[in-house]
Amino acid sequence: MSGLFISFEGIDGAGKSTHIQALADALRDQGKAVTLTREPGGTPLAEQLRSMVLNDSMDPMTEALLVFAARRDHVQRVIVPALARGDVVLCDRFTDATFAYQGGGRGFDWQVLRQLEQWVQSLGAALLQPHTTVWFDLPPAVAAERLAGARVPDKFESQPIAFFENVAAGYARRQAEDPARFARINAHQTPAVVWHDVHAALCARGVLRT
Ligand code: TYD
Repeated sequence: MSGLFISFEGIDGAGKSTHIQALADALRDQGKAVTLTREPGGTPLAEQLRSMVLNDSMDPMTEALLVFAARRDHVQRVIVPALARGDVVLCDRFTDATFAYQGGGRGFDWQVLRQLEQWVQSLGAALLQPHTTVWFDLPPAVAAERLAGARVPDKFESQPIAFFENVAAGYARRQAEDPARFARINAHQTPAVVWHDVHAALCARGVLRT
């Protein structure tokens, strides 16, 4: 596959959305075809699963299975075809979010998540993984301040800070398991400085031209 797969991660309130859009614009300005998508979601079926995962209460295993079911549909119908066309795929969250939220946050079994990852992301002999994961790292207390009053919180956004401490620890563990894939961005800076760092990290990895 000739395309490039890039995912974006971070706890709620880390501020990734505006930078994903800016990156899509920058890549298109450089003549790249961009597929902009998100998880859970990105297909009609996966968007239905998203609304259940974000709104309905359920046990951690059910949550993990639903996000992986959504992912399977998304991988097959959107991500793989886009990569085969040669697109740059920008995905707002991917499997690291499952390890962080269902693994770290909910305490669901890390090894079972790894098995699900193997099943869902196997493409023949290869395992689909992002080329680069841009991780917006922000202390949970700062993220909570940013979110307070910003909008009606969903099921995850209304969790206490202790939950997000565990989610952040899940992200850190994923990075430690595959450090080369991660571009860690200090998200506790002004939006302009964060964008500068995102841009620099993607230039360094050959995704963007300077
Ligand atoms: P988010 O990406 O923050 O979208 P929005 O900006 O519209 O709120 O919301 C997705 C939520 O889903 C977020 O709280 C993390 C959660 N999530 C999981 O729990 N597991 C997953 O595997 C994924 C992809 C997301």
